[in-house]
Amino acid sequence: MKILIVGSGGREHAIAAAVAKSPKADKIYCAPGNAGIGQIAECVPIGAMEFDKLVAFAKEKEIDLTIVGMDDPLVGGLVDEMEAAGLRVFGPRKNAAILEGSKAFSKDLMKKYNIPTAAYENFDDPQKALAYLETAKMPVVLKADGLALGKGVLICETLEEAREGVRTIMEDKKFGAAGNRMVIEEFMTGREVSVLSFVDGKTIKIMSSAQDHKRAQDGDQGLNTGGMGTFSPSPFYTDEVDAFCRKYIYQATVDAMAAEGRPFKGVIFFGLMLTKDGPKVLEYNARFGDPEAQVVLPRMKNDMIDVAEACIDGTLDQVDLVFEDNAAVCVVLASEGYPVSYEKGFEITGLSSFDGKDGYYCFHAGTALKDGKIVTNGGRVLGVTAKGATLQEARANAYAAAEWVHFDRQYMRHDIGKAIDEA
Ligand code: AMP
Ligand code: GLY
Repeated sequence: MKILIVGSGGREHAIAAAVAKSPKADKIYCAPGNAGIGQIAECVPIGAMEFDKLVAFAKEKEIDLTIVGMDDPLVGGLVDEMEAAGLRVFGPRKNAAILEGSKAFSKDLMKKYNIPTAAYENFDDPQKALAYLETAKMPVVLKADGLALGKGVLICETLEEAREGVRTIMEDKKFGAAGNRMVIEEFMTGREVSVLSFVDGKTIKIMSSAQDHKRAQDGDQGLNTGGMGTFSPSPFYTDEVDAFCRKYIYQATVDAMAAEGRPFKGVIFFGLMLTKDGPKVLEYNARFGDPEAQVVLPRMKNDMIDVAEACIDGTLDQVDLVFEDNAAVCVVLASEGYPVSYEKGFEITGLSSFDGKDGYYCFHAGTALKDGKIVTNGGRVLGVTAKGATLQEARANAYAAAEWVHFDRQYMRHDIGKAIDEA
C-alpha cells in the first residue's frame, strides 16, 4: 500500500514509524515531514493546509490511505476534500473535528449529554463575559473557543487578572479569530491524564494511558507549551478510573457525536482531570497527542494500517487493541527560549547512536536537512523515547539516551515522569 501522512512533528514521526512496521506499507510519503521522517518516508514539500495540492498529490500517486496527524487541517476539512475526491482518509470530517475546533461546541455537547466536565458559560460578547466574572469564583479558567496552538487557555487567580484575560482574548484578539467566542469555566484540581482512542463512528477502543508535562520548566513552572515530555501508562489511571470513564465518558462522547449527526472517525484524545469528585473532561482533541503519540504508539502491538482501515470501514468492533506490558518515557529536547522565541539552524550530532537500539527512539519534531546536515528548525526539536520494564526504568533509559544527542541551545526538563514515584 501507498500511505500519505500529513504533518511535520514528532507525532507524525511516531505515526510514520508505526506505519513503517506494517508489512502492508510499500511506500510512505509525508507532507511536509521533517528530516527524521525523511529517513523512513519520502517527504513532499506540500503544507498541511494546502488542501488542493494534497488532493492532487494523493490522486497522482494513487495513495491508498492518508493519515492526517495535525489539528488544523482536520478542523479545516481536509478529510472532506479528500473523500470528495474518492480517497481513503483516516481522521474526522470537519463536522466532527469541531469537537476540538470549538471549545464552546464541546462544552455544550458535554452538558447536553451529561458527560462530566467543569461548570462553564460560553460568551461571544466581552461585556457579558466581564459582567459574569463579577460573580465567578476565583481562580477561573478562560478559554479561547478556537484552535490556538494549545495556548488559548488562561488560568486567572484574581478578578483583575480575569478581566485582563477577557480583554486579551476577545478584544486584543491575542489568539486571533479563535477568540471571537470564549468559554469561562470552573477551575478544577487533580492529576491530568491523556487517554487516546480509536473511533469508527460507533465503536471506541481505548489506547494505553499517558501523561504530558505542559509547562516549560521543571516543577511545572514557566509557560504552557505543546508538551515537554510524556510517560505511558499513567499509574494514576487505575482500573476504577478506567471503569468510570468507560461508563460515563468514552462511549457517551461517541454516541453524542453520532446523535448530533456528526459521526466521529479517527482518534479522540480525552484530556481528563482526576478530581476528588471523579474524572472530568478538560478538553477533547480530534487527533493523537504530541508528545503522547511518542510513548503510546511504540507500545501498540497492532498493525497501524489495520486499525486505521477498521476506523474508516466501521469494523473497529472486530479489532482487539493490544499494548505491550511495559512502559515508555519521552523527553523533549527543545531550543532554549521555547515557547516564546528561539534560534534555529544548529547542527544536531549523535543521532546515529539510536541506530539498531531496540526500545529507543529519536522522534524528530523541528528538524531540517541543510547542506547534508540535520539542523534544528523549531522550538521542540526532538522527542527522545525509551521503553523499560517499569516506568522508572523507562525514565532512566530516556534520560540516558537524551545524552546521546547534542545541539547548541539545547533545553529539556529534568523531571519528566517524576510523579511516577508518588504513585
Ligand atoms: P486545554 O487546552 O483545555 O487542555 O487546557 C490546557 C491546560 O490548562 C490543561 O492541560 C490544564 O492543565 C489547564 N486547564 C484547562 N482547563 C482547566 C480547568 N477547568 N481547571 C484547571 N485547569 C485547567
Ligand atoms: N500534548 C497535548 C496535545 O497534543 O494537545
